[in-house]
Amino acid sequence: MLKSKSSAMELSRLSLLPFLLLAAVASSVTGDELRTFIVHVHPQESLAFETAEDRTAWYVQFLPEDGRLRHAYHHVASGFAARLTQRELDEISAMPGFVSAIPDQTYTLQTTHTPQFLGLNAPLPGAWTNDTSLRSGVIVGMLDTGVFPHHASFSGRGMPPPPAKWKGHCYFNGTACNNKLIGARDFTTGNNTAAPPVDDEGHGTHTASTAAGAVAPGAQVLGQAAGAASGVAPRAHLAVYKVCDETGCSGADILAGIDAAVGDGCDVISMSLGGPSRPFYIDPIAIGTFGAVEKGVFVSMAAGNSGPESSTLSNEAPWMLTVAVSTMDRSIRATVRLGNGLYFHGQSTYQPTDSAPAFLPLVYAGASGKPFAQFCDSGDLDGLDIRGKIVVCELGGEVPRVFKGQVVQKAGGAGMILVNQYPQGYDTLADAHVLPASHVDYAAGSAIKLYINSTTSPTARIIFHGTVLGASPAPSIVFFSSRGPNQQDAGILKPDVTGPGVNVLAAWPFPVGPPSSSPPLPGTTYNIISGTSMSTPHLSGVAAFIKSKHPDWSPAAIKSAIMTTADVDDRSGTPLLDEQHSVASFFATGAGHVNPAKATTPGLVYDIAPSDYISYLCDKYTNQQVSVIARRPVNCSAMVTIPGRLLNYPSISVTFPAAMNSTMPVIVRRTVKNVDEVPTSYYAAVDMQESLVSVVVYPDRLDFTQPNQEKSFRVIVWPKQRNLRLVQGALRWVSDTHSVRSPISVTFA
Ligand SMILES: *[C@@H]1O[C@H](CO)[C@@H](O)[C@H](O)[C@H]1NC(C)=O
Ligand SMILES: *[C@@H]1O[C@H](CO)[C@@H](O)[C@H](O)[C@H]1NC(C)=O
Ligand SMILES: *[C@@H]1O[C@H](CO)[C@@H](O)[C@H](O)[C@H]1NC(C)=O
Ligand SMILES: *[C@@H]1O[C@H](CO)[C@@H](O)[C@H](O)[C@H]1NC(C)=O
Ligand SMILES: *[C@@H]1O[C@H](CO)[C@@H](O)[C@H](O)[C@H]1NC(C)=O
Ligand SMILES: *[C@@H]1O[C@H](CO)[C@@H](O)[C@H](O)[C@H]1NC(C)=O
Repeated sequence: MLKSKSSAMELSRLSLLPFLLLAAVASSVTGDELRTFIVHVHPQESLAFETAEDRTAWYVQFLPEDGRLRHAYHHVASGFAARLTQRELDEISAMPGFVSAIPDQTYTLQTTHTPQFLGLNAPLPGAWTNDTSLRSGVIVGMLDTGVFPHHASFSGRGMPPPPAKWKGHCYFNGTACNNKLIGARDFTTGNNTAAPPVDDEGHGTHTASTAAGAVAPGAQVLGQAAGAASGVAPRAHLAVYKVCDETGCSGADILAGIDAAVGDGCDVISMSLGGPSRPFYIDPIAIGTFGAVEKGVFVSMAAGNSGPESSTLSNEAPWMLTVAVSTMDRSIRATVRLGNGLYFHGQSTYQPTDSAPAFLPLVYAGASGKPFAQFCDSGDLDGLDIRGKIVVCELGGEVPRVFKGQVVQKAGGAGMILVNQYPQGYDTLADAHVLPASHVDYAAGSAIKLYINSTTSPTARIIFHGTVLGASPAPSIVFFSSRGPNQQDAGILKPDVTGPGVNVLAAWPFPVGPPSSSPPLPGTTYNIISGTSMSTPHLSGVAAFIKSKHPDWSPAAIKSAIMTTADVDDRSGTPLLDEQHSVASFFATGAGHVNPAKATTPGLVYDIAPSDYISYLCDKYTNQQVSVIARRPVNCSAMVTIPGRLLNYPSISVTFPAAMNSTMPVIVRRTVKNVDEVPTSYYAAVDMQESLVSVVVYPDRLDFTQPNQEKSFRVIVWPKQRNLRLVQGALRWVSDTHSVRSPISVTFA
């Protein structure tokens, strides 16, 4: 039953949550068709460009005629995007300086047909908003669908002017930009980047306000979640780069957005988008973010919404922070009570107070016998008498959740119970439904269906309880959060960390929910939605906060601080669970759930120099492939190469052959830098099932006597048994004041 066609469909539909998935559009390649290519070119050493104009002029020399250039890249790629035929590209590839070219990917913005989730905001780390020592001057660059600037969340009141290093522009007219929203540019209009980045979708407004929105009192959605809204880093500046529109996100535009964000002086880049796993040298996001990180810019990326299946991650490069998504402890409760007295708690943000919750006849949409009718798509309910009844619909079937309610309402239904299929387990979402509704978990759904079968006149009612705090378990990994292992490199554990991203309240350009007689005023509208799209800007805000405290820390050091201080237990002190309420693996949680308060004082950091990434890339790729990412010729034979597991990463991932008789240990070397007071001593503690895998740390004590002192150590990993599949544990460096934790994942493949 669970492995039916419909559950497979469900899984593919799940990726339609508000996470911008890339979908490569298969295009027939004919010789004469104009398509956009990203072309990487390297000038000869004698060619030094004084200005961006000089470099652009050199790029244009590759092109057959004027008007073909879409983007010229200056900071994070050496090359350009241009409209070319295959024939023209063949000619270009014979020209001196040509390195490689990839056709642009048409990335699909998957949120337009998605219902809007509604729910509540993350409990904000209140201490942050009150932290007067927080330095201003950190700039967060948001690459998304643009922004609706005239919103309370983007008020510049109390914000200092942008720092002197800021070089960007605001292409909104009038007063839209201010000391909060300092930059605004659109890359989706071809080479005219002077267009204003209007957000027609809402996604970009939501993510920008989540990362660094101003404190805005009076936020609520359909009466729920009333309170002040605030970004995670409310003192940071925002620069918005529109790289997605209603047709999706083009890789060439994303690369242009990263290029501009780096050139403009952003400190953090936040991207709630991604695509299928692909080698880094043909992935414009991996290429662009490498350049950003090399120039000291922190990059936070969505892990993807393709869970709970394994190997579903996006954005797997080691220089990015790859963010999973987990629940919060609030729900907007809608309880289903059955005629037999059983009741089940579910969620809905639309909670009409005027409808008396009477018992109504209950009917299962799948009862019509039509294939896939249980998903309540339009037409599915034809021939089924649902007038005045509550209809049970299943999640999935490529039908957005709120749309199912619209179908039920149109067919005369009085209410809807949305039930999970098995893969969604215990997770429920609060939506702005158009009729009384409740989304219940898989167990509840099974019991409700059983009850319908057990009686000739089943009845139910839906009772609304508003916002309820203390839901548990929380945080827990939500079903749609993409899972590892890392398909590009099993030696790098991904995702890196998880953060709140279910039912997140943030700014929205338009009203949501059923049409209202008194629509809210413009600039006061919010929405509550879910996805790795929502957890990613939380981590961008955390990174901005750390950067404000430690302006000299590298992106790798900030990432290490976030990862080694993450929580591995939930609020009740049990290990983080997943959607089935099983202990979540590191392929779901990464290092754990972000703990913002601890992340500014990690004690030790695992740092990585940009040149280490080149050595790492040289272990994987050819000279030519590495030079595309490095933006310059690279001779890997002249370098020491670093395999993934030996990169100085804050987590450890080692793989052994499955069929192994006399096991050889794997030795992993790491270096930590003390970033706290000296003198101090750290002792190694290993959490690992010793009967399965032996982990020895040498030396097991590190003494630091000077500031920023570095110490190296070895971790010797040695399986003790055969026929193992996956064993996960941790190394903790413990001092009087700190515990610096690295997950250790041991895979047998
Ligand atoms: C930009 O595009 C327009 C038409 O789309 C074209 O006329 C113009 O020449 C282009 N500019 C460059 C620098 O390629
Ligand atoms: C932050 O400031 C507000 C208003 O001054 C106050 O109500 C709140 O308790 C403070 N929060 C913390 C964590 O200090
Ligand atoms: C913004 O200003 C430009 C140039 O002055 C003008 O062409 C455009 O119509 C204006 N747009 C809006 C929305 O006012
Ligand atoms: C309910 O009854 C239908 C028809 O007899 C059957 O196909 C279905 O499996 C039953 N469902 C449950 C949950 O027992
Ligand atoms: C790359 O480096 C190796 C080792 O130093 C050297 O033998 C080789 O000639 C170099 N290749 C190029 C193209 O420079
Ligand atoms: C491992 O041991 C088994 C039984 O002792 C033997 O049959 C097998 O060939 C060995 N495999 C290898 C790779 O040595």
